[in-house]
Amino acid sequence: MVDQAIAKCTTLSEADARHFVAHGWVIVRDAVPKQNSEDIVACAWRELEERGIKRGDPETWKKEPYIRTGCPPNVGIMASRGDKEAAKQKLEIRTRYGLPPESPLLQDVAPRALGAQVDCVGGRERVAAPEQIALPDSLAVNLCSDDSKLGEGGWRSTSAPGWHKDGWHYRHFLDSPQQGLLLGYIFSDLSPESGGTQMCVDSVGVVARLLARHPQGIHPDTVYSYIKPYMVKECSEFQQLTGKAGDLAIMHPYMAHRVAGNASGRPRFGQFPSLKLSQPMRFSREDPGDYSLAELVVLKELGQLTHLDFATEADYTKYPREDITPPPSRTEEEKQAIETELYDEQQRMALTEPEWAQEMWPKRERL
Ligand SMILES: [Fe+2]
Repeated sequence: MVDQAIAKCTTLSEADARHFVAHGWVIVRDAVPKQNSEDIVACAWRELEERGIKRGDPETWKKEPYIRTGCPPNVGIMASRGDKEAAKQKLEIRTRYGLPPESPLLQDVAPRALGAQVDCVGGRERVAAPEQIALPDSLAVNLCSDDSKLGEGGWRSTSAPGWHKDGWHYRHFLDSPQQGLLLGYIFSDLSPESGGTQMCVDSVGVVARLLARHPQGIHPDTVYSYIKPYMVKECSEFQQLTGKAGDLAIMHPYMAHRVAGNASGRPRFGQFPSLKLSQPMRFSREDPGDYSLAELVVLKELGQLTHLDFATEADYTKYPREDITPPPSRTEEEKQAIETELYDEQQRMALTEPEWAQEMWPKRERL
C-alpha cells in the first residue's frame, strides 16, 4: 500500500514521502521561492517597526514576544464572507505594510508547496478548493518567547504549557476533513533551539487510538483537555522544527505540538495554517492503492491495519463532519452541554485508559 501511494507522488521525493509515513512529518525543502519569503518578512518588519518593535533593539521585542502580523484572522474571515467594513480594514492593513491587496495563490507562486501537500493527501481532488489556497503572508512571529521557567524535563515534559492538537472549530473524528494536514511555512532560517515549533511525534498514534474509539467524535474542548498534558505523558519522541527560509513543514493533523521558547536572539517568522480536505479521510478504500499517505499513517498507528470500518453513511448523517459554533458565541446552554459531555468523556476515558487517565480523578473532584 505504501509503495503504491508513494509511486503516485509528483512533488515529494521518495525519501520525503517515506519519512512522512514513518514519522508523521516531513520538511519539504525550497517549497517557497526565497524572494517571496524575503518580501513577506520585510513587510512583517515594516509593521513591527511601526508598532514599536525595533529590529535593532531586542529590548523592544519583549513587549510582545510572540506576535502576529498582517491581517488578523477574524478580519480576513469576515472579509471573505463579504463584509465590506472588514474588506476595507483588510486592504488598509495590507497596503500600509506593503503586502499586495490579496495574498498570492499558492499554485501560482509556490506550486511545489501545494504539490507536496497534494501528495500527502492523495490527490488534488481531495483538497478543498486547491485553486483558492493562498500563500500565507500574515505571520506568526516568535521574537523571544520565554521557556526559561520550564522545570525538569524542559519542553519535552508534560508540565510544559501549550501542548495541543489544532482544531478548536470542529468536532474531532478520526476522519475529520477540516484539518487534512498541519503546515508550517518557514520564512526565516530556523536553527535548533530558535523558536521552531516543538512536536510530540508519537502523539500521532495516541490521538489516532483515541479518535478510533469515538465514532461519535470528540468535542474540541475535550481534545484539548486530554492532550494537555495527559496524552503527552504517553509519548517519548519529541522533535523541533528546523529549516531554511522557504522550507515547508508538513505534519500529520494529529500531531500534538507547542510554541517553542526562543532565546536565540533570532526572530522566527512563519505561519501555521491547515489544509482542508474536500471529503473526510477514508480508511476502508476498495483499492488499497488509493490510500493517501496521511491515511496510511493512521492505519499504521492503529496496528499496521490495511482496512478499518470507521464510519458508515449513516454515521455521516448522525454525526456530521461540520464546524461547530466556536467560543465566544456559544450560548449558556451549549456551554453547559459541552461541560457535561466533557466530564462524561473524561469518565469513560479514565475507566478505559491506563495510569495517566487515573491521575485525572483528583483533578476532576476539585473542579
Ligand atoms: Fe497549533
